[in-house]
Amino acid sequence: MPCLVIVGGFFGDEGKGKIVAYLTKKENPVIAVRGGVGPNAGHTFCHEGKIYKVRMLPSAALNSTTQLLVGAGVLVDPDILLDEIKSFGVFDRTLIDSQCGIIEKAHIQRDIVGPHLKNKIGTTGTGTGPANADRALRVLKVAKEIPELTPFIGEVSDTVNTALDKNESVLVEGTQGTFLSLYHGSYPYVTSKDVTASAICSDVGLGPKKVDDVLIVFKAYVTRVGKGPLKDEITSDVAKARGWLEYGSVTGRQRRASPFDPILAKKAIRLNGATQIAITKLDIIFPNSAGVREFSKLPREAQNFVEDIEGETGLAVTLIGTGADLTQIVDRRDSSASAVTL
Ligand code: IMP
Ligand code: MG
Repeated sequence: MPCLVIVGGFFGDEGKGKIVAYLTKKENPVIAVRGGVGPNAGHTFCHEGKIYKVRMLPSAALNSTTQLLVGAGVLVDPDILLDEIKSFGVFDRTLIDSQCGIIEKAHIQRDIVGPHLKNKIGTTGTGTGPANADRALRVLKVAKEIPELTPFIGEVSDTVNTALDKNESVLVEGTQGTFLSLYHGSYPYVTSKDVTASAICSDVGLGPKKVDDVLIVFKAYVTRVGKGPLKDEITSDVAKARGWLEYGSVTGRQRRASPFDPILAKKAIRLNGATQIAITKLDIIFPNSAGVREFSKLPREAQNFVEDIEGETGLAVTLIGTGADLTQIVDRRDSSASAVTL
């Protein structure tokens, strides 16, 4: 089953980067393609003691045989993209769609001044909202107009669909999380686009019948940066005591936190048409599960936590993160009847 879409189930920062980095290392997809909003998302993955962050490239950058694509619906900040291409040394396998919208300095300025976006919504200040507004007004520049990007410009939808016609594997990486969706999230405390699986496919130019599996990523607890509702939010002191205190990878802001919310999870599964679940950071909730790679070796209460989620949602939890390194994971795809494969 060659086409897998990965999306966030809560408010972003679920650990999609780690899941994508693991799957690409294990399965060597021909293509990893990024959908979503743009450089407001920071995906992190760790391997062999090094921490990597991407805001523009797919989280498959370590995998030397995977082509790295950015879909037409994604906004590109040329400075950030070119820095990442340079630091990962991926000049020969990066492809940016000719119609990706371009974030300019003026968009960032509009995002960080004034009370609405910065103070009321609590945006990341990366210029994505104002750039998408300009796109809707049809005054935004697109990637083919930017000379520095010329070596990387192509037709991402054609490339992805041609690969699928040849039965080659394609991993589609979503960004943000379901409840940051402009349409389905906690409006107005949301990002500037829909970010559910259908929108991520649209970003890369992929029709709905081309998708084989939608893997939804939940963290073992919920976090949110910026403003907006968060049910059963705990104080930062309690979060600290539990080891749940996190800081945003793009903005450095402290993330708000709450316990895993099965009702929200079920809603996210529907909105995305998810077929499989990945749970990350199980080791934060159950320290004895740190580094474990087999389900049967997880502490009983950790197994129960996962099985309760399966019971509530009716979906298999096929991947379970047990530590920061991309190899610290329980991979149950082989033992699951409808396993996610690439
Ligand atoms: P914007 O997307 O920068 O306009 O920010 C709108 C809201 O979405 C703010 O609450 C941000 O903190 C949040 N947001 C946007 N992208 C991400 C992400 O990748 N992770 C977590 N929160 C995000
Ligand atoms: Mg993030």
